[in-house]
Amino acid sequence: MIKTSKEIRKEFLDFFEEKKHQIVDSAPMVVKGDPTLMFTNAGMNQFKDLFLGNEPVKWNRIADTQKCLRVSGKHNDLEEVGLDTYHHTMFEMLGNWSFGDYFKKDAVNWAWEFLVEKMGVSADRIYATVFEGSADDNLQRDDEAATYWEKFLPADRILNGSKKDNFWEMGESGPCGPCSEVHVDLRPQNEIDKLSGAELVNKDHPLVIEIWNLVFIQFNRKSNGNLEDLPDKHVDTGMGFERLCMVVQGVTSNYDTDVFQNVIAEIGKLSKIEYGKNEKTDIAMRVIADHLRAVAFAIADGQLPSNNKAGYVIRRILRRAVRYGYTFLGFKTAFIFKLVEVLKETMGDAFAELVSQQNLIEKVIKEEEESFLRTLSTGIKLLDEIISKTKTDKKDTIQGKEVFVLYDTFGFPLDLTELIARENSLGVDENGFKVEMEAQKNRSRNAAQQETDDWVEIRKIEQTEFLGYDNLETEIRIARYRKVTQKKKTFYQLVFDQTPFYGESGGQVGDIGYIEFDGVKTSITDTQKENNLTVHLVEKLPEDPSGFFKAVVNYGRRDK
Ligand code: SER
Repeated sequence: MIKTSKEIRKEFLDFFEEKKHQIVDSAPMVVKGDPTLMFTNAGMNQFKDLFLGNEPVKWNRIADTQKCLRVSGKHNDLEEVGLDTYHHTMFEMLGNWSFGDYFKKDAVNWAWEFLVEKMGVSADRIYATVFEGSADDNLQRDDEAATYWEKFLPADRILNGSKKDNFWEMGESGPCGPCSEVHVDLRPQNEIDKLSGAELVNKDHPLVIEIWNLVFIQFNRKSNGNLEDLPDKHVDTGMGFERLCMVVQGVTSNYDTDVFQNVIAEIGKLSKIEYGKNEKTDIAMRVIADHLRAVAFAIADGQLPSNNKAGYVIRRILRRAVRYGYTFLGFKTAFIFKLVEVLKETMGDAFAELVSQQNLIEKVIKEEEESFLRTLSTGIKLLDEIISKTKTDKKDTIQGKEVFVLYDTFGFPLDLTELIARENSLGVDENGFKVEMEAQKNRSRNAAQQETDDWVEIRKIEQTEFLGYDNLETEIRIARYRKVTQKKKTFYQLVFDQTPFYGESGGQVGDIGYIEFDGVKTSITDTQKENNLTVHLVEKLPEDPSGFFKAVVNYGRRDK
């Protein structure tokens, strides 16, 4: 019988409870009030003050599963997640801690006992690394840890690791110490016969992976860089839960475990596309299954998507998922919120917040999806045109001006444009983008210095009816117009009785398109909202403003 992820998580906690550990809840994933950290990125974050001695130790043995989020760094660059099979934004870190209690011997013994005896991991697939020592710090190899591993492993599967991989520090100063990592080789036997796993440990091979890091906190790094022995020695271990599930369930991708498969199956059902048939759609499904978790847990912790700091990270993650669903799975309407139910069924027993906050999570995700989809569909069309034009012109960079229009009119963050450009082997002119940004700021400063004539009223209206949620093309009549002069440049503002154009306010650019009568088109270069009226900008007044016009939106901004 293959163990389920629920069983694996429970067995880990039960195992350490039997070894007299206090089981504690995960700390929130979203960190409030710490300027150095937006999200919990390791199990030990919540115990920092215990290691530093700033807080009294209540239990000297603790174990838990911690919700972590990593969206930066070599392996957790947001843009890489989903491309491979074993990195995530949000992941669970299983941990056991000793605060001044047991040390290397028990940590190693119990890691082995849990993995091999409880989880049934093949002993002959396991490698352990130990700290090789460092002349800089006048430290010897961690022979002690090696001795404990030797009880279980032949010498050629205990590998030395450098300071970079095998000496763990919390920061520039503070508690630190050597660590010992457990790696597992999941390759088929015929490959192992050809090349020993020892050659592939810590080499980014998707099937020779680190699953557990046992850190032995025994020094304090002083601010002058020197190490001193700590009076108490501690253990901090962190094991990637999703990777453990992959190993125990005998699959070769984290996404093939039941941690993700239920959600992936639901995505398959909604998109009518099967997982495992096509590299591009598989990546999209992995991106969505991964990002759903990060976003749902962040919202459950009270972090809504927004335009700054942690909120912006969450917005970027969600928007990346929407974009993959839109581009590769054909989702043109909100769908991610529909996956929350399955996520709750998968993880709700361990994380009660998914159950209690389900409605809020669904509502926030749905609104955010709808808002971004409106922007995306028009923006992507424009970007596709820009990309083919750039290629036809044999250029390798998209002009800053065009990147700015995408940003300003369609809410495309620079990084999204860069990502799509990169997928098409193009770069982006970042400097040009900054120049445009600055120019826009000047424009809004100048906007104050304009002269307006009186309105000429053709027909009376109280408000402009907005039809643009359903129609991007309607018949309209001009209700009033006026001439505006700014820096010797003349243009006209038109108010219609009804309009498909979405009006912005406060200097942002609104919808653009044209009105047409008798084959003559007049371009609408901007749309602004002024109280109940929507004001459209044109450079030239149509010859007869009194009749019916066809009004057509070319590029709509609906990201509200
Ligand atoms: N602190 C170590 C890590 O983050 C072990 O938990 O890898």
